[in-house]
Amino acid sequence: MKAITKIIITLLFFSSCNNIIIEGVVSENAMVVSARKEASQIGINILKKGGNAFDAMVGTELALAVSYPSAGNIGGGGFMVYRKFDGSIGALDYREKAPLKSYETMYLDENNEIIEGLSVMGALSVGVPGTIAGVFEVHEKFGSLPIEEIIKPVIELANKGVIVTRNQSERIKENQKYFKLVNRDEILFNKEFKINDTIKYSNLASTLNKIMLNGKDEFYRGETAKKLVSFIQKNGGIISLEDLEKYKPKWREPIVFKYDDLKIISMSPPSSGGICLNQIFKMIEPYDLESYGHNSVNYIKLLVEAEKRSFADRSHFLGDTDFIRIPLNEILNQEYLLKRMQDFSFEKITVSNSLSHGNININESEETTHYSIVDQFGNAVAVTTTLNGSFGSKLYCEELGFFLNNEMDDFSSKPGFPNMYGLIGGEANKIEPEKRMLSSMSPTIVEKKGKLYMTLGTPGGSTIITSVLQTILNVHEFKMSMNEAVNSPRFHHQWMPDSIRIESSRFNPKIKNELLEFGYKLSDKGSIGRVDGILIKSQNKLEGGADKRGDDTAIGY
Ligand code: DON
Repeated sequence: MKAITKIIITLLFFSSCNNIIIEGVVSENAMVVSARKEASQIGINILKKGGNAFDAMVGTELALAVSYPSAGNIGGGGFMVYRKFDGSIGALDYREKAPLKSYETMYLDENNEIIEGLSVMGALSVGVPGTIAGVFEVHEKFGSLPIEEIIKPVIELANKGVIVTRNQSERIKENQKYFKLVNRDEILFNKEFKINDTIKYSNLASTLNKIMLNGKDEFYRGETAKKLVSFIQKNGGIISLEDLEKYKPKWREPIVFKYDDLKIISMSPPSSGGICLNQIFKMIEPYDLESYGHNSVNYIKLLVEAEKRSFADRSHFLGDTDFIRIPLNEILNQEYLLKRMQDFSFEKITVSNSLSHGNININESEETTHYSIVDQFGNAVAVTTTLNGSFGSKLYCEELGFFLNNEMDDFSSKPGFPNMYGLIGGEANKIEPEKRMLSSMSPTIVEKKGKLYMTLGTPGGSTIITSVLQTILNVHEFKMSMNEAVNSPRFHHQWMPDSIRIESSRFNPKIKNELLEFGYKLSDKGSIGRVDGILIKSQNKLEGGADKRGDDTAIGY
């Protein structure tokens, strides 16, 4: 592409006016959109040879572990929401778990103060990884191709190596001081990698080869399990072989709700994604959003005030339903949600400090990645997977060739105190052995008039929920293409801290001034999320929206 064309396209994407419809990649049969071209390619090749979306999920997930090691992983976990060609839906939870030896105050000192960094970096921040169990579970239940056919191309990719993009070289560079701090031995990522260098992942290739030959037991009971446990413990961690042996992914009922003529299907606990989306959508449904205009002052006010109320509930009520009871019927009740918005007015701000979780009567009783796949049979998956922070705990097992997550930071280390995303957790999300930490990951599928309409999701910690919200609204209310919807400027409020995070340089200064004059605090956020989605425009027209904020790529056929 000529430099001048590139500049014009970039300007169009990053201008704050959104009245240009630029379609993304369009295909007839199938589409994969992920954070790296190499991963999307492996996914689409699987579909081309007759595999289904679930086979492609396994290939894409593992290919991301190779090509996008800051978030793609075998040392982390994730969630998948699916909708099959026949309309049946479900969700898989392969989220990490707290180790058996974990305990509520493990990140506090003798004065009950948080020990800075302990839940964020190094071996103690690692949760029991779920990714390998997750992909095998998906394959066992829905896969159609032999596992070797799916994993072999990933191993080839790891051996051949992956080209370093500008984003990746910067990300590695930024993190090297932490790699050196956390890892005693030299690791692959301590080397200097420039743009267009190739990184070969031969140790990861050999681990994947063993997993391909011996199945998930290799990771949870076999040689790899033993090496992993000994590595973690040598570095001061508490994960044991028993933790790995006991790890099981769980099939969950997704959260399903209506918004206008859409049916939205999203992730259930231990993610807060589906519940918060349900709450926010229902709180804003009575208003005529389209008439306010996209990213107008009134649109921002309405979304922000609904988001505050939902995140206040998140902090109080939500956690792992295997351990606590979430009063789902109550907090998703239409009357309750309308009541939550009763004091909302375009004329005044509800200050976060004055806002708490709702009152209900309980009757006893920076770094993640998302990919979306639609196959030629009409099956759709939305998958978000993570190490939590960029390169997770920064702890890299050189021998096995992968990073370990720092997902333990998603628990509330101390009730009322923020985690690395500024999220305040409560009692419901305290650390308990074998519990899953509360997540914001929101892989989501949307139906319109009973038919598959969208599949989408994003990384971004707490901003995941509001990015998914805005992307659906961009398509539904503001008639954007998928490409435009994922690339539009975004904002976010999470109750605490009491400010609107905003992609400041991409918003109209007049709108920002009005919000400031009205009394909102704005905190500049270079970029919020990287949404990858697919829009089903008609039976033979799929549009992939790959977020230009990253190296994300849509490939269809
Ligand atoms: O599960 C969660 O909500 C977080 N661990 C996700 C982290 C994330 O999205 C980081 N990405 N930028």
